[in-house]
Amino acid sequence: MAIQRTLSMIKPDAMEKNHAGAILAKFQEAGFTVRGMKMIRLSLAQAEGFYAEHKGRGFFGELTQFMSRGPITVLCLEREDAIAKYREVIGATDPAKAADGTIRKLYGANVGENAVHGSDSEASAAREISYFFAGCDLV
Ligand code: CMP
Repeated sequence: MAIQRTLSMIKPDAMEKNHAGAILAKFQEAGFTVRGMKMIRLSLAQAEGFYAEHKGRGFFGELTQFMSRGPITVLCLEREDAIAKYREVIGATDPAKAADGTIRKLYGANVGENAVHGSDSEASAAREISYFFAGCDLV
């Protein structure tokens, strides 16, 4: 499998509960190398832009309000087969359905406040990484 990069966001709920350090440790233990990392606060418009593919769905307003309510940490993570491996490490979108030991099982509260975001394909990863990082920001 090829080396890939994926985009991670540690969401406002996990930031508020001071879980960012523990979550970063989980990524590193799983063999990811951090190529980019920053803490930012999204405006509502920036959250709407990031999640544009979900516009029109019932949860869009709730999701974008939540994602802009406080700081997040965005990371560009790299390893072999990064996209699939990352999704394994974070677990199912709904923490109640996530496997034991996954980040969403450990730190997520519900399907909305689920601690972390992950890219779902190589195309999404490329778009999402470029949403937050210019090429020269990645080391
Ligand atoms: P994420 O990986 O960030 O990608 C899209 C997000 O939409 C997802 O995680 C969930 O947090 C959110 N989401 C999906 N379904 C629902 C829902 N039914 N209610 C609220 N948020 C949802």
